[in-house]
Amino acid sequence: MAKAKTVYYCQNCGAQHPKWQGQCNSCKQWNTLVEEVISKTEKKDWHTDGNTAKSLQPKFSKIEDIAYEVEDRITLPDKELNRVLGGGLVKGSLILLGGEPGIGKSTLLLQLCLKLKLKSLYVSGEESSKQIKMRAQRISATNDNCYILADTSTQNIFKQIKRLGPEILIIDSIQTLKTEFVESSPGSISQIRACTAELISFAKDTNTPVILVGHINKEGHLAGPKILEHMVDTVLQFEGDQNFIYRIIRVQKNRFGATHELGIYEMFSGGLKEILNPSKILISNHNHNLSGTSIAATIEGMRPLMIEIQALVSSAVYGTPQRSSTGYNAKRLNMVLAVLEKRAGFKLGAKDVFLNITGGINVDDPAIDLAVVAAILSSNDDTALEHNICFAGEIGLAGEVRPVPRLEQRIAEADKLGFEKIFISKHTKVSTNAYNLDVISLGSVTDLVEVLFS
Ligand code: TYD
Ligand code: MG
Repeated sequence: MAKAKTVYYCQNCGAQHPKWQGQCNSCKQWNTLVEEVISKTEKKDWHTDGNTAKSLQPKFSKIEDIAYEVEDRITLPDKELNRVLGGGLVKGSLILLGGEPGIGKSTLLLQLCLKLKLKSLYVSGEESSKQIKMRAQRISATNDNCYILADTSTQNIFKQIKRLGPEILIIDSIQTLKTEFVESSPGSISQIRACTAELISFAKDTNTPVILVGHINKEGHLAGPKILEHMVDTVLQFEGDQNFIYRIIRVQKNRFGATHELGIYEMFSGGLKEILNPSKILISNHNHNLSGTSIAATIEGMRPLMIEIQALVSSAVYGTPQRSSTGYNAKRLNMVLAVLEKRAGFKLGAKDVFLNITGGINVDDPAIDLAVVAAILSSNDDTALEHNICFAGEIGLAGEVRPVPRLEQRIAEADKLGFEKIFISKHTKVSTNAYNLDVISLGSVTDLVEVLFS
């Protein structure tokens, strides 16, 4: 048995220190060092039998000699995943899928294996084979090419892989894996790093894509060292409100594609369903004639999305009025209310204001400000807006309606969904001939009040 020694790893950058100290020497972060016992055994490759003849052959090649084939990407039977991965899964790449417990990471990946035509191996360190079978029954799908392995030792896993020769490997989760070349417990920084390194060398050597599930910590970051995110090719974040059915995949890093793509799913009793036309689902059709509802033309990632905003303005019962918002930045809500008070003369200081973006999604796009104002004014006035109008504009501190990026895309989406009017900033130049809907330009919030309520 090799001699064990104690070292201290920085959780932020992964730097190793011989003794504990308050600040990391490398990244200068405070209180990030954690103690770990490691063995001095030499680390080995995933390919433990070692092939000397192979290692003597030259490994370098001219860049122009390297063959590039379009087939290097696998098109998955899941349009949303293909989209976030930049057009399919790149062979030999390592993908990390992070997300809160219970959000549906295991469901998404098992469902993928069950739909794939390729031979896939789903390795679970969290559930037994029987539990995975139960989940598969819920999804009510089965597949001849989907293999399940419940194991946590990387050496055992690689042995099984050599027997089976899967074309795609899923690891659920990286925090449960353990390699025998490192002493510390599963989930520790040195284990995560060593197991990931073994998986990377496996992926690159055999050109097999590997998808890792990663836990996140209570701050919402991926658990384990930051270096994990540096090591993998793609980092995906699965998010959503557990109380709602919508789930969103965002790309945090992608060596083979854009990072502003986004995939949307709906969780139902039979697994996750792709939502190819989210705008239709996020807008309810039965809220006609209700005051306090408006529709915003927003852009999430690269996709135009029509979302519904609901506001409730009522007289405050207690001394201090309440302001509450779900899915919209609370500071921005206060700003918008202050603008309405100062620039348009609405006395909202003594009113409770509640704001809600339906579907439980969070929107950061400032272009929804105009719709927020419209919803608040509609509720305050208790007058319903016309149901076939929508808004795209940012509100400035002077009460001006500011232009927003990618307006053509927003207008085209509104047009496609049959809206008749869209309200935008008058400071934008946009050709409107191509659309059936009316484009109405506004200079400030007072213009909006005039157009909607006079
Ligand atoms: P899971 O994939 O286990 O989450 P994670 O791996 O991210 O921890 O998802 C579990 C949740 O999904 C659970 O709360 C139940 C729900 N679910 C459904 O609603 N429908 C289904 O068909 C399945 C399989 C799960
Ligand atoms: Mg899971």
